[in-house]
Amino acid sequence: MTNGFGNMYSYAARVTPEDRWRIAAYIRALQLSEHATPADVPEDEREKLMGQK
Ligand code: HEM
Repeated sequence: MTNGFGNMYSYAARVTPEDRWRIAAYIRALQLSEHATPADVPEDEREKLMGQK
């Protein structure tokens, strides 16, 4: 994002470093979610997700 790559030019001037890290964190979360199990969900959130304990 900062330096550009191939057809993707640098977004350094358009996206703040803070937002670039937010985007990176979002990509990482998407990657993790691909193979996530209920065990990866924090316990208090898990109950909401599963509908019961
Ligand atoms: C601010 C967020 C981003 C924007 C607005 C953006 C935008 C773009 C655009 C416009 C292209 C060119 C597409 C084309 O010509 O076909 C591109 C290509 C690409 N982007 Fe991004 N991108 C962003 C973030 C990312 C991130 C986070 C990654 C990696 C995790 C990434 C990886 C790539 C790759 C690998 C290409 C293809 C480069 C090539 O092979 O020529 N981009 N992106």
